[in-house]
Amino acid sequence: QADLFGEPYRPQIHFSPKLHWTNDPNGMVYYKGVYHLFFQHYPAGTVWGPMHWGHATSKDLVHWQEQPIALYPDSLGYIFSGSAVADVNNTSGFGKDGKPPLVAIFTHHDPKGEKEKSDKFQNQSLAYSLDDGKAWTKYEGNPVLRNPGITDFRDPKVMWYEAGKKWIMTLATKDRITFYSSPNLKEWNLESEFGKDLGAHGGVWECPDLFPLSLNGKQYWILIVSINPGGPNGGSATQYFVGDFDGKNFRPRDTTVRWIDYGPDDYAGITWSNTGSRKIFLGWMSNWIYANEVPTEKWRNAMTIPRELSLKKEGQNILVASTPVKELGVITTGKSVSLSKLDIGKGDLSDKTGSLPGQFELKITGKLLKDFSLELSDVNGEKLKIGFDSKVNAYYIDRVNSGQTDFNKEFAARHTAARLTAGKAFDLTLIVDRASVELFADNGLTVMSSIFFSKQPFTKLSATAEESLLVDELRITPLKSIWK
Ligand code: FRU
Repeated sequence: QADLFGEPYRPQIHFSPKLHWTNDPNGMVYYKGVYHLFFQHYPAGTVWGPMHWGHATSKDLVHWQEQPIALYPDSLGYIFSGSAVADVNNTSGFGKDGKPPLVAIFTHHDPKGEKEKSDKFQNQSLAYSLDDGKAWTKYEGNPVLRNPGITDFRDPKVMWYEAGKKWIMTLATKDRITFYSSPNLKEWNLESEFGKDLGAHGGVWECPDLFPLSLNGKQYWILIVSINPGGPNGGSATQYFVGDFDGKNFRPRDTTVRWIDYGPDDYAGITWSNTGSRKIFLGWMSNWIYANEVPTEKWRNAMTIPRELSLKKEGQNILVASTPVKELGVITTGKSVSLSKLDIGKGDLSDKTGSLPGQFELKITGKLLKDFSLELSDVNGEKLKIGFDSKVNAYYIDRVNSGQTDFNKEFAARHTAARLTAGKAFDLTLIVDRASVELFADNGLTVMSSIFFSKQPFTKLSATAEESLLVDELRITPLKSIWK
């Protein structure tokens, strides 16, 4: 794989398809020791086109093996986003000879219907696999959930609701979420609607997810909803609600708008199913503003690092935190550079850190957060700035001078995200790849992902702070390419 994955801007520690277009992650299910990742894919070009489900598998969430395309468009339309479940009790009846099926639930998007201005061109359909996810057969009874007349009726995320012994489908229906239930994945009953008057509404609602997470022994339900446009830094982004779900209705604890990731480049993320109480989230690392224009040649776009979700209490608020999955440890090398008791208010750090590795994790911890900025730069002076601004209590990523930006006028920008903890101490983790940075601040309470296109990899680290900023530890850990 190595030579195929050596092009300029090719992510070395993130999944991207060998060739051609991708957007949303789809159908993520963990089964028999394998993480399946399907993805919106157009295998005949590097721009969005008739959608297929591409397929990749991993045993460790880090190294990915691309598999044959799982689902092709058919007479009912393109294969839009959706989810997959392990139907261990064979409720669907697709199982055979005691072997339970994996079942994919996706949106059929009929381009003809869309052209003819019918409002019923998106319907929900099924496909199943009896060989642990390798080959997929579409159900002859498709579609299983017909559109009642809503132009945007898509992206089903299905989960088993044990308390009610039924499947729950969380569906994006234009400006709200509609919940359906089913005993067998084939017949669906309307349960309730949520969100018409709540949350962010700068754009259409897409790609939802619903799942429980516990905090101090109490269970909460998390509802994830992507919107496009209307994100906190423009374009597409993913909001979440923390609340309660009783098998019929979702009720949020409060009405504050919150985002899983405040950066410009994390969209349409959902969690793997069948991972027990652990919730692992993965998003598409791009933004619909420029996803079709970014300057890569053979492929376009990549996924974020998989992230483990957890709940944290901050004052009265219960917030969702994301941190890189611990499995990333499989590509860390022993060659990390650790600087302790450092004052980073003093400019160039490269004599202490040496040349930055191709892709790495950078961690900083300290007892008192003050204004600072870190600069990653290359030999041409192209740079990325990441920092904290106490005047507005926000982190930022500035990619204005990060390299190629002229493919879209909105790309060159400084993006900000509020700090969500009142604590004085700080911890920041950056995951830096060839063309992306993911910032996890305050144990993952504030997350920002941003892509960039510098001509050369960034090799130099400098820092500035108006007053000196004392760092307990600054550690740079090189990460091995997943393709080598
Ligand atoms: C989100 C989305 C989904 C849709 C898919 C089509 O990025 O618009 O709502 O199913 O992409 O590719």
